[in-house]
This record gives sequence, C-alpha cells and structure tokens, in this order.
Amino acid sequence: MGRVTLRTRRVNWKNVTDNYSDGMHITVAHPGLTRLFGQSYGIEARPWVDKMWGTLRDTPSSQLSERLYQSLLPGSAHLPAERQRMWLYFKLWPNVAFDIYPDQVDFMQMIPVSPTETLIREIAYALPDTRREMRVARYLNWRINRRVSVEDKALIERVQAGMGSRGYRPGPLGRNEVSLRSFAHRMRELIPESRLERAPSAGWFRSSGGRP
Ligand SMILES: [Fe+2]
Repeated sequence: MGRVTLRTRRVNWKNVTDNYSDGMHITVAHPGLTRLFGQSYGIEARPWVDKMWGTLRDTPSSQLSERLYQSLLPGSAHLPAERQRMWLYFKLWPNVAFDIYPDQVDFMQMIPVSPTETLIREIAYALPDTRREMRVARYLNWRINRRVSVEDKALIERVQAGMGSRGYRPGPLGRNEVSLRSFAHRMRELIPESRLERAPSAGWFRSSGGRP
C-alpha cells in the first residue's frame, strides 16, 4: 500500500527501538491506543524477538476515527478467531519491526544515521480486498497510527534530550519491561563498553580488537 516512507528522528536508534517495545509508555503516551485496548496490552520477550499485542475493546471509543474503526473493521477469513480484532507487534533484534493488524501489515526498519539521528523506513502491505468497510478500516488505521507516531516522536525526543543532559544517570528498568531488559542485556553482552557510565575515549573500538 502506498510507497516506502522515510522519517527522520533526531534521536539515537536505540531510543526508537526501545520505545517500540516499551510496555509502560502505552497508557502514558497513547490515549488512543488505551481507549482501543483498555488494559489488554501484553508484552513478551524471547531471545531474538519481542512480541506486543492489544485486543480491541467492545466499548466504543470517545474518538471518532477509533470508534468507526471498532465498528467497521470487517472479519478476515484468513485470520483465526483470536486474531480478528488484535493488533500485534513483533520486534526482531535489533532494529526491524512488524505491526500486524487485521487489515494490514506494517514493516519498519530503524536505521542508524549518526549517534543522534535515525531514519525510520516504513511501508504497509495488505491483501487484495475490495470491501468498502475494509478500505475505510485501512484508512482509519492510518489515521489512528499517524497520531501514535506523533506521540512517540515527542516522547523519544524528550528521552533523548534527557539522556543528553548533565543530570542524566542510567536508571533501573521495571521488572515487567521484559523486552527492554532483554535488549539491554544482549547489548551489554555484545558491547561490554556499553556498561560504562561515560563514553570511552576515542579509538576504544579499534583498541578492543574490533569487537563485536
Ligand atoms: Fe509508542
């Protein structure tokens, strides 16, 4: 559907990918998703993949696009019953993600450009479906997620600004942030220098023997 979009974010790529699989920010940063999913947002981490999901509530949202999506989204014969109204997200180590909706699949890469710049490369795919309700549902999905993207942009820019401030200290991660913990653990295993509180001196990578 459409073409590949490229969006620049003036943040480190890990802030983009961490935000993608951060479970706690949904209720804080995304009122729309909270209206759609309620408390059903789930999160799971496996060695190379994170999985997040939410199931559309029956309670109509107070917001028009969301309410219309809830009521118009038609069934899809290829999906099992439990997936008919589920928004499902997968993040593959370290920077690829799929948003699997009942109406379309969104494919995303978070490409590092510099330590403080990331390019989000994205395109959506859908099965041929001429039903009017499906066409409308796909448009509404785009509208809902366009807002989610704006909310995430504001959030990660604030996180980046906070990390760049003199007062920043790394903090502990909540036990329920299973994906963030798994990502940080793997990153520290591969690049032990990432445990340091301050950036190592220039040339550390070459002097470490070119790890990883
Ligand atoms: Fe988000």
